[in-house]
This record gives sequence, structure tokens and C-alpha cells, in this order.
Amino acid sequence: MNALDPTGAGASAIADLWWLMFSIGTVAFVVVTGLVLYALWRGRRAGENERPEPRHARNLVIWGGIVVPAVILFVVLVASLQTSRRLVTLGNADPSNALTIEITGRQFWWDVRYRDESPHLEFRTANEIHVPTGRPVNLRLRSSDVIHSFWIPNVHGKMDLVPGQENSIWIEAEEEGIFEGQCAEFCGLAHAQMRIILVAQEPEDFDTWRTEQLRRQDRPEDPELARGFDVFMSNGCAFCHAVRGTLAGGRVGPDLTHFGSRRTIAAGLLPNTRGHLAGWIADPQALKPGNLMPAIPLEGESLQALLTYMESLH
Ligand code: CUA
Repeated sequence: MNALDPTGAGASAIADLWWLMFSIGTVAFVVVTGLVLYALWRGRRAGENERPEPRHARNLVIWGGIVVPAVILFVVLVASLQTSRRLVTLGNADPSNALTIEITGRQFWWDVRYRDESPHLEFRTANEIHVPTGRPVNLRLRSSDVIHSFWIPNVHGKMDLVPGQENSIWIEAEEEGIFEGQCAEFCGLAHAQMRIILVAQEPEDFDTWRTEQLRRQDRPEDPELARGFDVFMSNGCAFCHAVRGTLAGGRVGPDLTHFGSRRTIAAGLLPNTRGHLAGWIADPQALKPGNLMPAIPLEGESLQALLTYMESLH
């Protein structure tokens, strides 16, 4: 995560403002420090009795204390207004070509819904968003519990997700890459473990990913996978999680339809491997205190079948 290594127009605008403020701040710091040192040096040499001329002292206060700071603040004000303008006008590029993604903050993960005019082309995923490069993306940000803040520093500035209100930002990734983000508003015990990944990919790769995500999962034919599916359905998983194409339709936890294709589990906490998933299912509270998932006590054999089923959800 690095706001000074921008990949989109939004992050570039913010980085430009940051560098301007940093440069002005550096010059002001050097000049003021130099003047303080000079005053100390002169004060020692001059002794007690020498006083500056009142006119000089007054001019110094007027220029150094009022005029120069006012000019600097005005320049910074104009620059920050321009930055806000650049951020807002991002959405004016070509809205007809835009992709709309609805992101809902939850304690402590991100519910992601790809919007489309046709309901057949809508799907949900979690904690990992894919976007095509060179295409404007409208992120509609909501919250279902407390205030969160969406922040992928390389791509855009922060935007709060507020219950009962929809905030919107526009992003556009210029180059391929995987960019990490983090919830930036304290939202509870596992706030620090509420991460998100943005995968920017070539439009063709994005279309392939999207087509895959739209695919539903049937009840598996393979006996081992079917056993894992039954464990999933009979141990309460389906009350909270959805797997499109099956009767599992819970909305409390992340949609797991293509769980196996995600890079991480538990909102960026752990890499998505069989071992980590086993540990997560056995005791989620030990790994991420405060999250809503209860421990699922399973026999070894059932757990293995469940893991195989989860891994098969590509
Ligand atoms: Cu969500 Cu902090």
C-alpha cells in the first residue's frame, strides 16, 4: 500500500497535492529553522542592550507572520480545491462505458456486488474486486452496521461507508496489478484485519474472470465433493453463506460461490490454502477475534471433505 506510487487518476491527483504540500512544508521548515539559528547567533553576539529597530520588527511580523503564510495557505487552498475537482470529474470521462460495483462494509469484511442492468449478469463476491484496466469504475459504497472507510492508497483516496447513505467514488486503473487496501475507519475489534484486494487486469482477462464468476455451482456429482457439500449444508454454513446454484443462500457472511478462486480468506487475513482454511473453520475467533463466524466442530473426515468441496468452488 503506497499512496505515493499512484496507478489511477484519483491517486495521481492526491499524490500531486501531497508533493506540493510536502515541498512547501520543507521550504518553510528550512527557512524558519535558518532564521531561528540566525537569531540565536546574533542574539549572543549583540549582547543585552542592542534592540532591533521597531520598524524592522514590525515589517518582519507583517511579512513573515501574515503576508507569506496567507499566500502559502491560499496556494494550498486552490490546489486542494483543484484536487477535489479532479477527483469529482473522474466520473465524467465516459459513464456509458462504466462498470458499477456496489461494496458494502460489514464487520469485518467487504460484500461486493457487480451491478448490471440485467439481473442475470449480476453476481456477488467478497474481499477481492477485479476491474479492467482503462475503464472507469463507479464504486458505490454502503455499510450495513457501523462506519467503515474504503481505502486502496495506490488507486484512490479514502471514502467512508456510512450506514443509511450511499457514497460514490470513481476509479480507473491505468496498469495491471494487484493492489491492497485496508479499512481506514476504526470499526471494532478486527478493524485492522479488514483488508481488500483490487486486481486490475487486461479487459480480456477481466471478461474471462467475470464469465467464471457468473457460473453457478451445481450440487457436485463426485462422491467426495458431494460429501463435503452435505457437510456444508448440514452444519449451519448455509445459514450465513451463499453458494449460487444451491440452496445455500445466507447473506450474513461472504458469498462463497467462487471461494476457491480467491487469493485470501477472512478479508485478507490469511492466504487461501487448505491448511489455513482448516484452521479458520476450526476456530475463527482465535484467528480474528470479534468476527461473526462461530467455530464449527467437525470430525476429521467431515472437515477434510468440506475442505475439498470448498477448494473445488472455482
Ligand atoms: Cu471496517 Cu475498520
